[in-house]
Amino acid sequence: MNDMAQVALDRYAKHVNPQKVRVLKAAGLGIIESRRDGAWVYDAEGRRLLDCFTSAGSFNVGRRNPEVVRAMHEAVDSLDHGNFLLCSSQKADLAAKLADISPGDLSCVMFGTGGGEAVDFALKLARGATRRARIVHTVNGYHGHTGFALSAAGRDAYRVPFEPLMPEFVRVEFGDAEAMAGAVDMHTAAVLVEPIQGEGGIRVPPDGYLRRLRELCTENGAVLILDEIQTGFGRTGKWFACEHEGVVPDIMTVAKSLGGSMVSISATIFTEDLREFLIPNPFIHLSTFGGSDLACMVALKVIEIIESTGLIDHAAEMGAILNAGLNRLAGEFPDAISEVRGRGMMAGLKLADDSMGPRLSYNLSNHGVLAIYSGNEPSVMRIMPALIIEPQEIDFLLDALQGAMSDMLSGKGPDSEPSPRVRRRPQR
Ligand SMILES: Cc1ncc(COP(=O)(O)O)c(C=O)c1O
Repeated sequence: MNDMAQVALDRYAKHVNPQKVRVLKAAGLGIIESRRDGAWVYDAEGRRLLDCFTSAGSFNVGRRNPEVVRAMHEAVDSLDHGNFLLCSSQKADLAAKLADISPGDLSCVMFGTGGGEAVDFALKLARGATRRARIVHTVNGYHGHTGFALSAAGRDAYRVPFEPLMPEFVRVEFGDAEAMAGAVDMHTAAVLVEPIQGEGGIRVPPDGYLRRLRELCTENGAVLILDEIQTGFGRTGKWFACEHEGVVPDIMTVAKSLGGSMVSISATIFTEDLREFLIPNPFIHLSTFGGSDLACMVALKVIEIIESTGLIDHAAEMGAILNAGLNRLAGEFPDAISEVRGRGMMAGLKLADDSMGPRLSYNLSNHGVLAIYSGNEPSVMRIMPALIIEPQEIDFLLDALQGAMSDMLSGKGPDSEPSPRVRRRPQR
């Protein structure tokens, strides 16, 4: 590690959090990012890593995509954040574009700066519009650490120190339509789920689950909120993951990749029916930096790039290649990889135990891949590269995974204990 990286880690430990630095180092993630370029990132020593974390799916168009950088330069030359209380053409154009690409009758927008803020507003809108209190969410779901969103955190460790949180938040198992049917009634304001759980371990629900949630909400007059913050903008091979089931929510939250790796922006997108609540209350939810003029210009370019380069079809194609490769790998390491999860370019490898997540991250970083295990399910390694990835880079990733799995099983890692329960099947 060079001096610059060491100083950065020491300062971070001293002034931000020493335990975070310890945990990251133990997983080989004491990485100080320097150059960022498309699907790749370089550490402080100039080591090139294929970025398969992408800030949990935030870099769909690649890091510092040259067209996004150009749009940002142009925006900086003429704009600033703008006055948040005024209307602006950048905000209006992005709102119209989001309405255009969103499924069904989702046509109204509230901007924010981050995902948690978008979810907070979604829950406020659902409660305000229905005048009901109950929010049904899911075990291991993740929607951010802000006010309302935190109350819907599916993991106790994130919530318990801050209780009492918002009342009337009810948690049910993800993917279990019957459990949802038991929880949703005429008192329910909203059901809040991710179409595929990201932090929860890349969990794709059974076919028909989202459609059943749609029916339950419609029957009970409740609002269906789909959190597409990780799954949106082509990640799963469609603009939004709910399109795989042809389900249109009443509210959809987006963030991460909308900012093109360059700006902070999020949006809560909803129906005109729900917007009725805001007509007499236009100032009931405000955000100084949410949907800044600068960020809106960059986000418009991000959407234009996704459209003009056919990135969504490309993601579906690359996703199929990746999925086939990961399944081959699982066949090679049957005791260590129990399942390949995901859809499109949102993939997960379910490993035999929780310790393997950090140990695989460690070994992958030695093979030129930055990948981080799931926050709420450490036994699942997330694989979420930029959607601009090409087949030869997927080959590189699969080779790296094979090498890293072998190294991990032979005992290489932050701890030197080999796992006694795993063996590798000889390659055919
Ligand atoms: C599904 C989902 N919702 C919400 C959030 C929170 O977004 P932010 O960290 O921008 O507040 C995240 C962040 O990872 C997420 O994955």
